[in-house]
Amino acid sequence: STNSDLQGKKIMITAGPTYEKIDPVRFIGNYSSGKMGFALAEECARRGAKVTLIAGPVQLKTQHSDIHRIDVESAQEMFVAAQMYYPDSDAGILCAAVADFRPETVADKKIKREKEEGLTLQLRATQDIAANLGSLKQKGQLLIGFALETNNEQQNAEGKLERKNFDFIVMNSLNDSGAGFRHDTNKISIIDRKGRIDYPLKPKTEVAQDIVDRLVLSLSPNS
Ligand code: C5P
Repeated sequence: STNSDLQGKKIMITAGPTYEKIDPVRFIGNYSSGKMGFALAEECARRGAKVTLIAGPVQLKTQHSDIHRIDVESAQEMFVAAQMYYPDSDAGILCAAVADFRPETVADKKIKREKEEGLTLQLRATQDIAANLGSLKQKGQLLIGFALETNNEQQNAEGKLERKNFDFIVMNSLNDSGAGFRHDTNKISIIDRKGRIDYPLKPKTEVAQDIVDRLVLSLSPNS
């Protein structure tokens, strides 16, 4: 379609995993491919938005010329970039699978194996980007979160909606085959303070359309 319902809007999107360094050659990461966040960035740009895409380490290219891409590696770098761009955005979509913990110290040389002894890494919590932006959110701005749950999905998603001050949350379950990490398809539910809508399994490009349709509804003044 030639939809331009996001004309004049600025949208910030976080996507992909983060890598938390252990030493010069190792990190703690996760299986996020960034596909969902990149599909959202393309869909928002296609509908007329100026997009800032803050991307963790992923193997993906951006197509649309209205996507301003910022590549980051760690949760801390993503936090700094998101704090910089969110205040000037109409909406933030937090699709990144941000590491919850990082090594307390980063070894400056490759850690050697010492005989058969194990190794204990001391971890620290990273900053919660979502909760931070939720507290910065101003009237007229939207904040959309994602939740990937293995259990108690509905209850956990509702808790996050409140704690992080999201306008709505996109829930995907690891229990659904074809949904979530690395797949080209996803099966989502959207939860807001009024209820829940379940969508069927679809390609991530079409899931992005559903999410952006919902976003447009919330952006319009009378919703
Ligand atoms: O609590 P949980 O990490 O499951 O919440 C997921 C949501 O919070 C996602 O939208 C994710 O992008 C965001 N998040 C974040 N910063 C973190 C952890 C999660 O923005 N450090």
